[in-house]
Amino acid sequence: MKTYNIAVLAGDGIGPEVMAEAIKVLDACAERFEFAFNYRHAFVGGAAIDTVGEALPPSTLACCEQSDAILFGSVGGPAWTHLPPDQQPERAALLKLRQHFDLFCNLRPAKFYQGFNHLSPLRSDICAKGMDILCLRELTSGIYFGAKERTATAASDTQTYQRDEIRRIAIKAFQAAQARRQKVTSIDKANVMASGILWREVVNEIAQDFPDISVEHMYVDNAAMQLIRDPSQFDVMLCDNLFGDILSDELAAISGSMGLLPSASINSQGFGLYEPAGGSAPDIAGLSIANPMAQILSAALMLRHSFAEEAAASAIENAVAACLQTHCVTRDLDPNQTVSTAQVGDTIAQMI
Ligand code: NAI
Ligand code: MG
Repeated sequence: MKTYNIAVLAGDGIGPEVMAEAIKVLDACAERFEFAFNYRHAFVGGAAIDTVGEALPPSTLACCEQSDAILFGSVGGPAWTHLPPDQQPERAALLKLRQHFDLFCNLRPAKFYQGFNHLSPLRSDICAKGMDILCLRELTSGIYFGAKERTATAASDTQTYQRDEIRRIAIKAFQAAQARRQKVTSIDKANVMASGILWREVVNEIAQDFPDISVEHMYVDNAAMQLIRDPSQFDVMLCDNLFGDILSDELAAISGSMGLLPSASINSQGFGLYEPAGGSAPDIAGLSIANPMAQILSAALMLRHSFAEEAAASAIENAVAACLQTHCVTRDLDPNQTVSTAQVGDTIAQMI
């Protein structure tokens, strides 16, 4: 039987609560689709700082290296905000993992689910047209990683993109569009940025290898507007690191629930880290009311992108949609509900 080794890094706050439900659902998948998971639990984030003194201990990194994928919860919380920035759980754990494994491709799907449009801050007639967007953000280059300088009177950040860095994320975007609605919208600021001109040039080159995909270029300021005017026009959005950071948060706000948004960060070998888009939600940790769907949907992305188990990935996504339809939801989705984190996990696992 095929066995997948998963490094399970639950982390802090609601991380362990929602992770338990994701594992329940993965176990249900293993049973139905006849493969096996070997879970290797490891400390990360604040929990690791408290036990061994650093957010990403060498033993945890080794565990990740020896696994086929990383299923990540969330890290951070008020107990660790006094630490210097580079020792804070998020930076010390996540940034290091991204760089160590060269996780250049960040995938952030966001959609409206039938019956839950009212969670969106957008007008109902706009929501009625639907939204199903996959945002790809370049994650290991661009302005966050360029040379920085600071003098008494000035400061600068540098954005540099190599052709190859644009190529590899663009290829991921076109491949993703093939399995979706055959459209890529590439975001840049080619009217004022040299790196934007190169971005557009390289995307057009890659487009030639994907004649079945329609490509559109959009300036980022226009994209920010179009997203709230009519998000139904987008399929795959391709962004650099900075623009992807901003637009993916706009997408999260538009979709209306943090608890529903998964993410994937993958490298060219298909190795990846999968985590909910939200944080450790310390305000609701320990109350059994966290929505586990984002963590469960992150597990589905892991099955799709790291293990090529498309049937199992779709089964999870369909089960989550079905669970939403039966209105078995935590109170972030419906304040009148008293359904617990575990009840949502049980329902989804059953539906698998
Ligand atoms: P957050 O995403 O943890 O919480 C924002 C709001 O969304 C809160 O009201 C929270 O209760 C709610 N929320 C988030 N996930 C939810 C879920 N699954 N179900 C129901 N409600 C949910 O962001 P915040 O408050 O800015 O950060 C809290 C901590 O998390 C901080 O220490 C921050 O550094 C860390 N963080 C970690 C991330 C990661 O591990 N990748 C990402 C973002 C924040
Ligand atoms: Mg997270």
